[in-house]
Amino acid sequence: MKCILFAGGEISPFASTGGLADVMGSLPEAIKKVNPEIDVRCVMPLHSKVNLEWRQKMKFERWVMVDVSWRSQYCGIFSLVKNGVTYYFLDNEMYFNRSNLYGEYDDGERYSFFSYALLDMMRAMDFFPDVLHANDWQTALSVIALKQKYWTDERYRRIKAFYTIHNIEYQGIFDMAILGDVFGLDYENKNVVEFNGCINLTKGAIICADYVTTVSSQYAKEIQTEQYGAGLQEILKMYSDKVDGIVNGIDVDLYNPKKDKDIASKYSASNLSGKAVNKMELQKKFGLEVNPEVPVIAMVTRLAGHKGLDLVKTIAEEIIWYDAQFILLGTGEKEYEEFFRFFGERHPGKAGISISYDRKLSKLIYAGADMFLMPSKTEACGLAQMIASRYGTVPIVRETGGLYDTIKPYVNDKEGNGFTFSSYNAYDLLYVIRQAEDLYRDQNHWSKLMKKL
Ligand code: GLC
Repeated sequence: MKCILFAGGEISPFASTGGLADVMGSLPEAIKKVNPEIDVRCVMPLHSKVNLEWRQKMKFERWVMVDVSWRSQYCGIFSLVKNGVTYYFLDNEMYFNRSNLYGEYDDGERYSFFSYALLDMMRAMDFFPDVLHANDWQTALSVIALKQKYWTDERYRRIKAFYTIHNIEYQGIFDMAILGDVFGLDYENKNVVEFNGCINLTKGAIICADYVTTVSSQYAKEIQTEQYGAGLQEILKMYSDKVDGIVNGIDVDLYNPKKDKDIASKYSASNLSGKAVNKMELQKKFGLEVNPEVPVIAMVTRLAGHKGLDLVKTIAEEIIWYDAQFILLGTGEKEYEEFFRFFGERHPGKAGISISYDRKLSKLIYAGADMFLMPSKTEACGLAQMIASRYGTVPIVRETGGLYDTIKPYVNDKEGNGFTFSSYNAYDLLYVIRQAEDLYRDQNHWSKLMKKL
């Protein structure tokens, strides 16, 4: 039997801050569903955010002591089986009983522990997968340590390591001074991880992995250029033979307007009347004028710079000035939180802003809005545009990364599933918003576009 072990800092529904958790939560189960003969397992830290309901379903497997350089740390191994996939949760309260998954002062040590612990777990559970599939910098060290340190043991040597980049901007960069003390690496491994005078865990994982993937083919090409590579372009080019892009998917059962319990009224492509009910509920919820004719343009996003929010800021007034309503749900950088909160206050009835992370409300937005905005500066894949499409909400996106791969510009009833622009420019964005609004007023064509769910 073939076995895969997926490793990541977050997995939905246990603990999540964004798209990484969604993919970690749906890809392994989808693989299991399609290939029941594969033994699929996942591992993540037992974050304090994992709620009691899940904890009560877990089984305590055993505990091991894990070496993090000179430290010897307790690691409890818990497990739970869901839809045929075994999930392991690695427990250490000192490292994971925190209010944040990342962004703590000792992230380097926390994820060094996690990386060594997941490798040691294999020995403790006598489970050596054929493939270790690590995701993002938090697990990069597991790939490096597997190839640089654990290879002397035959059982580890046969494991193939996959490394997936979900966002090249988060690389795991640390001071060279903690190479040995925190990451347990020595001068022999130094060249592998050293980059620009610092430790760069992503660089190390790219070198050590047998196969490097990212989450769309366009992003795989982009990150090998200076504009998108965040400094690692030359390294990626050097190893381009083993670098590939595979576009993410979404969980079509979880995101299904026919069955979704979180929305006001269920609907399908063949009968869109329920979508109008959702729109009405959405307008009410955000205190907007309840009017089926006015297009609702929505965003559900982390308020991070690379999401293209400066473009939206520039043209926010113009978006609603023309007969349209604007909705935004998300949290993140203070600058954007303040701007959008203030924008909402200035335009009651036309702009509805919720500075929060609210899964249920996001579903109502996907279902009730007419257009979905994603003008990202960079986007490895992006899931929201696919979710919006699934709910008959037409995406307006910038042609980058996975947005480019999944959304094609509207040409006619047969060709195209959204609206796109290429230069990172606010007025190019406004131009395509206007194009979308024009088509919206022609409901005959618009409804054909919506049905491409
Ligand atoms: C990251 C990327 C996003 C991608 C997600 C899942 O959050 O920014 O584009 O969809 O990971 O791979």
